Amino acid sequence: MVELQQVSKRFRGRAGEVIALAEVDLHVAPGEFVVVRGPSGSGKTTLLLALGGMLRPTGGKVLVNGVDVYALTERERARFRGENIGFVFQMFHLVPYLTVLENVALAATAGRTSTVWAAAGELLGRLGLSPRERHLPSELSAGERQRVAVSRALLNHPKLVLADEPTGNLDPDNAAEVFEGLAVFHRRGGTVVVVTHGTTADHHANRIVHLRDGRIDGGSGEKRMA
Ligand SMILES: Nc1ncnc2c1ncn2[C@@H]1O[C@H](COP(=O)(O)OP(=O)(O)OP(=O)(O)O)[C@@H](O)[C@H]1O
Ligand SMILES: [Mg+2]
Repeated sequence: MVELQQVSKRFRGRAGEVIALAEVDLHVAPGEFVVVRGPSGSGKTTLLLALGGMLRPTGGKVLVNGVDVYALTERERARFRGENIGFVFQMFHLVPYLTVLENVALAATAGRTSTVWAAAGELLGRLGLSPRERHLPSELSAGERQRVAVSRALLNHPKLVLADEPTGNLDPDNAAEVFEGLAVFHRRGGTVVVVTHGTTADHHANRIVHLRDGRIDGGSGEKRMA
């Protein structure tokens, strides 16, 4: 599903060069649920952006579904992302004056309007949000809002969902609900890579990858959980 080959990312700032990723090799199989952990500044967000086709590495190759994503033009890459990858960020980025259902339907890149509404409604149902469809984001709990963000990420039937600290602002109960939302996608065959500090998602994970100073601890990160 995802293959990082010797991926490096260097940032050049006024204070000198920062090596955010240092020749990272990582293979994520289709249907795998991978948790990424590591100290602040260890390169987790950089890794996620690079593998999601949002940040061109300084060196190495990123293959998603067999496609060399940075060999595509910017336009092709944007299209590829829209068709294959869903993103969930720490902040919900919901539109405050649209209902929950509208926020999810908004993500649609294709399809007839009626189909899109039906798909959005079905996703919300799967994540236990049907009773909240017509509410505004401000009327929801933080966990519910983030489940709306997960629904939105799933709308275009991505094969891969990337989440960067999706539960960073949530208490453990709400965090568990958000990870359950990702687990629903995973159980239907989806591939998940999630950056999280906590351990709430661990029981869903097939593998935990530890980053330190832009490198994967323990070699290739192929360490399997028991
Ligand atoms: N745009 C940028 N310009 C310069 N340096 C950057 C940039 N983005 C990230 N870095 C540096 O790269 C390193 C890795 O950053 P990254 O955001 O990937 O860390 P992280 O593991 O996600 O940390 P956190 O847990 O705090 O979110 C850090 O040293 C950071 O300062
Ligand atoms: Mg980060």
